[in-house]
Amino acid sequence: MDRPVVYLDNAATSWPKPPGVLEAMTECLLEYGANPGRGSHGMALKAGRVLLEARQALARLFRVANPNDIIFTLNTTHALNIAIQGSLRPGDHAVATAIEHNSIRRPLEAMRRLRGVDVTYVRTDEAGRLDPSDLAAALKPNTRLVAVAHSSNLLGTVLPVGEIGAITRPRGILLLVDAAQTAGVLDIDVEAMNIDLLAFPGHKGLMGPLGTGGLYIRPGVGLEPLMYGGTGSRSEEPEQPEVRPDKYEAGSPNTVGIAGLGAGVRFVLERSIREIAAKERMLTRRLMDGLRNIPGVRILGPEPDEERTAIVSFLLDGADPAETAFRLDREYGIAVRAGYHCAPLAHERAGTLGRGAVRASPGYFNSEADIDALIAAVEELAKRRT
Ligand SMILES: Cc1ncc(COP(=O)(O)O)c(C=O)c1O
Repeated sequence: MDRPVVYLDNAATSWPKPPGVLEAMTECLLEYGANPGRGSHGMALKAGRVLLEARQALARLFRVANPNDIIFTLNTTHALNIAIQGSLRPGDHAVATAIEHNSIRRPLEAMRRLRGVDVTYVRTDEAGRLDPSDLAAALKPNTRLVAVAHSSNLLGTVLPVGEIGAITRPRGILLLVDAAQTAGVLDIDVEAMNIDLLAFPGHKGLMGPLGTGGLYIRPGVGLEPLMYGGTGSRSEEPEQPEVRPDKYEAGSPNTVGIAGLGAGVRFVLERSIREIAAKERMLTRRLMDGLRNIPGVRILGPEPDEERTAIVSFLLDGADPAETAFRLDREYGIAVRAGYHCAPLAHERAGTLGRGAVRASPGYFNSEADIDALIAAVEELAKRRT
C-alpha cells in the first residue's frame, strides 16, 4: 500500500504502541531473557523484577493494594475463563447482560452445558443502556456471579459498574467486570466500584503487545485455577501452591510481552487516564458529528453527550458493512472492522444481527486528520452509492 494507514481498529488491539514498549521488549530479549522465578541467577532475578514492576504499575492504575492479587494472562478471554470457570459450580446461577461479548457468553454457555449452571441475560435498551434495577431483579438466592462488560465493544455504551457493585457486594455475589474496552481509558477503582474480579487486556488501552492480559482477584475470593503445573515454587508438593500469583500462573510466563505491557501501563500512568479519556472523547465526538451529517448513515449506541468509549459503529443505507470496510481499506487506506465483532448479543439488541455493522475505534494516537479522512471517505462512498 503506498499511502499511510489510518488505523481505526483500536477496539481490537491498539496500534501503534507508545515509546518504550518496543525498547522494553527488545531489552528483555537482548539483556535478561531468562525464565523468572525458575532460578536464582541474576538474569532470572532481573526477569522476575520486571514482572513485579509491571504488576505494581497495574496495581497503581486499578488501585489494587497488593500487586500479587493481579495475575497475568494471555488476553481478556483467558482472564474471563479463569474467573467464570473457576467460580461457578453445579447448581449456581450467573447473570450477564444482553450485550456481552462472546468471551463472557461462551464460557457461561459452556458452564450451562457442562455444570448445569443457570444463566440469565439482563435486557438493555437498543443502545446498550442497562437499568441496574433490572439486574437486581434478575438475582436469585443461588446467584454466585454477575459478569458484565464495562463497555460494549459494539455500541460504546458504558455500563454502571459502580452501581452494579453496590447491588452485588452486600449480597455476597461476585462481580466480574470485563474491562476489555475500558482498561487504560476509563478510571477503574476496584475498591470504590466493589469489583471482585477484573479481567483486562494488555494489548488494547494499556498499550502493551498482543498476548498479554490479566485478572485482578480480590483477596479472599477463592477460584479454582484453570491450569495446574509448574510455578517454580513449592516444587516438592503435588498440589498447586495457594500463594498468589503462583496459584494461577502455571507454566513459564510471557516475560517479553509483560515487559512491553509494563512500559505501556507506565505510559498510561504518565499521561493519565484523564488526558487519554479527554483525547478519545474529542475524537469520538468529532467522528460522530461528522458521520451524522452524512445522509444514509445510522450510528449505533448512545448519543455523543452520554458517557461512551471511543467506539463508533455505523451502517450506511443500502451498503453491505463488510464491503464498506473492504473499500475503506483498499481504496482509502483506512482500517476499520466490519461483521459481528464477536458480539452477536449486542447486534441483536441493536437490530443489526442479520447484517453486522462497520466499527471505527479511534485511540490515543489518532489525530483529528485521521477522523476527517474517515468522514470524507464515508461521504464519498455514500455519494457513489446513490
Ligand atoms: C468487551 C470485550 N470482551 C472481551 C474481549 C476479548 O478480548 P481479548 O481479545 O483480549 O481476549 C473483547 C475484545 O475485543 C471485548 O471487546
